[in-house]
Amino acid sequence: MVSRQHLSRVLSVFALVAFLLAGCGDPRLNALQPKGTAGEQQLDLIMLSIYIMLFVFAVVMAIFIYVIVRFRKRKGVSRTPKQVHGSTLAEIVWTAIPIILLAILAVPTVKTTFNLGSAQPKSADALKIKVTGYQYWWEFEYLNANGKRFKTAQELHIPVGKKVYLEIYGKDVLHSFWVPALGGKMDVIPGKVNTMWLDAKKPGEYQGKCAELCGAGHALMDFKVYAHEQADFDKWVAQMTTPHKPTTVAEKEGEKIFKQNCLSCHATADPKIKGPDLSKFGTRHTIAGFLPKNEKNLEKWLKDPESVKPGARMPKINYLNDQEMKSLMEYLMNSK
Ligand code: CUA
Repeated sequence: MVSRQHLSRVLSVFALVAFLLAGCGDPRLNALQPKGTAGEQQLDLIMLSIYIMLFVFAVVMAIFIYVIVRFRKRKGVSRTPKQVHGSTLAEIVWTAIPIILLAILAVPTVKTTFNLGSAQPKSADALKIKVTGYQYWWEFEYLNANGKRFKTAQELHIPVGKKVYLEIYGKDVLHSFWVPALGGKMDVIPGKVNTMWLDAKKPGEYQGKCAELCGAGHALMDFKVYAHEQADFDKWVAQMTTPHKPTTVAEKEGEKIFKQNCLSCHATADPKIKGPDLSKFGTRHTIAGFLPKNEKNLEKWLKDPESVKPGARMPKINYLNDQEMKSLMEYLMNSK
């Protein structure tokens, strides 16, 4: 008999597990609800291994239950059962079965791995993006989007239904590029270029993560992937490659402050202390890659980046007066 106390313990563990797993349901970052080809192929592999494991579990449990029932101690019988060792047939069977099961797993796994790993585009006009991981942000440089070359950060925009080829670079420590709902996880290694491809089958917003412990800001090294219909993607590219001209007085003042205080890190050229290209900051949906974009969050970030993202290399901009701060924010928020 299972005691009441024991039962309540088991039930509370189940409740806890159910509660924790419920948090995995966000479709924007759920590897079990893939929205891209790579993610679907990976899910197929996961399911194949789960079915094989369930099969093994069922067979082992069936034999186990049969044995404990069939050979249990019976009333009035106290002799030791006959001991058997070294059945050649049994040993061959339980060696051969795992080999066969592993072969069933290995063939599609190796095939899929090579398929997903061969990231060389066949046509010259394929969309190629150079991804660079920094502590603690991501840079995306479009190498030939509609014939244009430009940079952005923290938000990767792609057209739906097209293979996007990524060249992945690292500049400081190890990171790992991962978009769970689209599939594929690729190490970011300084000094080495890794390649992979992605596609999204449906328009939408997908969450990206750094999947390698890389320092204090690792947990917040997020990015977003926005998948658009081709026409919307083309519009976005056009917007990104049309320089923004400040119009209001405050924006113009903000631009001046930006050039004097921020440009040494946030320029398109390669400075020593490298920060994200902010020339189209107004098009972004987030601040620091994860906070909703609004003036309150922007001010918090500018004045004390460390409090928002631990380990951020951005210095505190706490020496501007209120008017200058307002102008700078107006310039950034409107740079579209
Ligand atoms: Cu970059 Cu973790």
